[in-house]
Amino acid sequence: MKTIIEIIDENNIDEDKLKVYANLIKNGETVIFPTETVYGLGANALNENAVKKIYEAKGRPSDNPLIVHISHINQVDDLAKNVSEKASIVMKKFWPGPITIILPKKEIVPDKTSGGLKTVALRMPKNKIALKLIEISGTPISAPSANISGRPSPTKGIHVVDEMNERVSGIIIGNDCDYGLESTVVDFTEEIPMILRPGSVTKEDLEMEIGKVLIDPSLNSYEDNKTAKAPGMKYTHYSPKGDVYIVRGKNLSQNINKLIEQNNELNLKSGVICSEENKYSYNGEVICLGSDLEEIGSNLFDALIEMDKRKIDIIYAEDFGSSGVGLAIMNRLLKSAGYKIINF
Ligand code: TXA
Ligand code: MG
Repeated sequence: MKTIIEIIDENNIDEDKLKVYANLIKNGETVIFPTETVYGLGANALNENAVKKIYEAKGRPSDNPLIVHISHINQVDDLAKNVSEKASIVMKKFWPGPITIILPKKEIVPDKTSGGLKTVALRMPKNKIALKLIEISGTPISAPSANISGRPSPTKGIHVVDEMNERVSGIIIGNDCDYGLESTVVDFTEEIPMILRPGSVTKEDLEMEIGKVLIDPSLNSYEDNKTAKAPGMKYTHYSPKGDVYIVRGKNLSQNINKLIEQNNELNLKSGVICSEENKYSYNGEVICLGSDLEEIGSNLFDALIEMDKRKIDIIYAEDFGSSGVGLAIMNRLLKSAGYKIINF
């Protein structure tokens, strides 16, 4: 498949260029576009044949529902019913932005989009290219992260070109994604909302607006869990080619450096993913993610992809805790590690 690739400046959008992509969406084709979280692989959410092409391009299991992206809050009522007061408050506070709201779906949303569920996931992204693309396409756009199923999500134009060229009809290259972690997914179909996937809008942020919020219990455990309520959370995910381990405990750098020496003897290349404060403590290939959790989150997927480019066999990643955005970071890291943890 020939892929049309263009760079578009988010702060000075060339509408003629964007119209080419909007026409692809209108014609039932697939387009990759930037959002503030990760790049999305989009198609007309209301056209089953178009949605089928998303699953094919990603190699994704089709029981895994897609997020439907809208450009205006008015579109919610076209797609969902029983919109609760709490859901409305959250939409008004955090949209456009990195949060996805699950509500009972209306008929118009095809089963292919909702993965056969009776609910629909809605999100109004903040990225101006994404918003404009949805608007001029004249339809909501369903879009999962634009990676091959199982791989880290793309946060830079180069990631999508490397991985998805010739698998989709169009790729729009914008700036690097601001947040670098996929949106927070929250189920509003019960009285007390529940976070199904943690993200940059945290439990703390939500509770300030609407009171008690639950976390899908399967997210609190440090084990693989097949009972997660968001179907996407149960699949292998975010995996680079190297073998990832989460490391924590005492004398971390000394202990890791010992493992790195052993790996060297076996001709295995080691890499370490760490925070700013520890970046000079490790031997091997070190990628520092930054000093605060927001910065660490925004650089995580790029680091995993970069470890592949450097052909690293074994990747050690520090534990970034579970408060605030730490919960989202560790959710992604634990999955990429297949829940392997080394405790010193
Ligand atoms: O930031 C994001 O959310 C990105 C950008 C492109 O918007 N999209 C994204 O989509 O991460 P995806 O498909 O990779 O992840 C969507 C997650 C999956 O875990 C899926 O199972 C869950 O949301 N999900 C979607 N619809 C759902 C529903 N009706 N009920 C429960 N979980 C749902
Ligand atoms: Mg994904």
